[in-house]
Amino acid sequence: MTRKAGILGLGCYLPPKRLMNSDLEKMVDTSDQWIMTRTGIKERRIAEKDVASSDLGIEAAKIAIEDAGLKPDDIDLIIAATITPDMLFPATACIIQDKIGAKNAAAFDISAACSGFVFGVIMAQQFVNTGLYNNILVVATEKLSSITDWEDRSTCILFGDGAGACVIGKSNDRVIVSSSMGADGSGGNLLKLPAGGSRIPATEETVRQRLHFLKMEGNEVFKIAVRIMVESANNALTKAGLGCGDIDLLIPHQANIRILLAVAKRLGLPEEKIFMNIEKYGNMSSASTAVALVEACQQNKIKKGDNIMLVAFGGGLTYGAALIQW
Ligand code: ACO
Repeated sequence: MTRKAGILGLGCYLPPKRLMNSDLEKMVDTSDQWIMTRTGIKERRIAEKDVASSDLGIEAAKIAIEDAGLKPDDIDLIIAATITPDMLFPATACIIQDKIGAKNAAAFDISAACSGFVFGVIMAQQFVNTGLYNNILVVATEKLSSITDWEDRSTCILFGDGAGACVIGKSNDRVIVSSSMGADGSGGNLLKLPAGGSRIPATEETVRQRLHFLKMEGNEVFKIAVRIMVESANNALTKAGLGCGDIDLLIPHQANIRILLAVAKRLGLPEEKIFMNIEKYGNMSSASTAVALVEACQQNKIKKGDNIMLVAFGGGLTYGAALIQW
């Protein structure tokens, strides 16, 4: 019989420094009112200059491992989801492995942008189901402030830094019952960091042209986001033999409050069944869904037996959903 995989422990870490909309008003031509009404974001966290994604991830990972009642050397595999790795290689997961002392763990990164945490959880579930690994640490960690163009008002208002982590292992509780993953590479140009890879290596010119910052066609992404998040959630529900009415709490990638409300509406869910913390943190890419899951637990929004739907979309384009029975 297939082993069931579930969440053994959870943790998150947000850097303490807050960047308020009122601070952004002094940096670019924008207003608190525009940002609040168009995005639902009031503030976001910004990591210090000498802090990298692995540092944020390590803090979240330590809490998740302790919450699972485990020690770092009980971890068999570390999957780090990030679009802001400390460097192109070695993998951020390897840096985390070393610094937390998870000496028995294999480690690698996945690049699935905002869908990274959901993809990581689904991947971990497969390793547990097959019996290859017992305890897998999934860390979603981002220092988006390091790739944000602070002169571009259409993007700099959206993003923040943070990390969330979970340990997935053999379990009859908090079980991942079904999932869905997808990609549409034809939309890759809508959301990208153009330079610094093998296509456009770094030169003085690429720096001058600001090609090392995230670029986004927000309007286009917006339209696709709603459709594919709804599709993903429905796919996962169908696989579990359930319908939208069975969702007790929807925990979506925190991209934009208008996207989240539109998704909830299309799924026929009342606002109280959708978890939102975008006001405090903005969009933290892969870390958003992870931190939202941790905070939903901390705020007692989830009770035993509940059907929790994680759903995300992001650069790639990538999208996915995971249904967890608590
Ligand atoms: N302050 C004031 N005005 C602004 C700002 C700003 N910060 N940004 C844009 N505007 C202006 C524009 O210039 C435009 O002016 P114009 O009408 O004179 O041309 C007007 O506001 C409307 O701009 P739009 O881009 O149409 O605004 P929209 O309502 O689409 O909101 C936003 C923009 C917030 C980016 C929205 O499109 C969005 O949230 N898109 C989705 C982004 C997303 O979810 N990305 C997720 C993935 S991120 C990842 O994977 C890392």
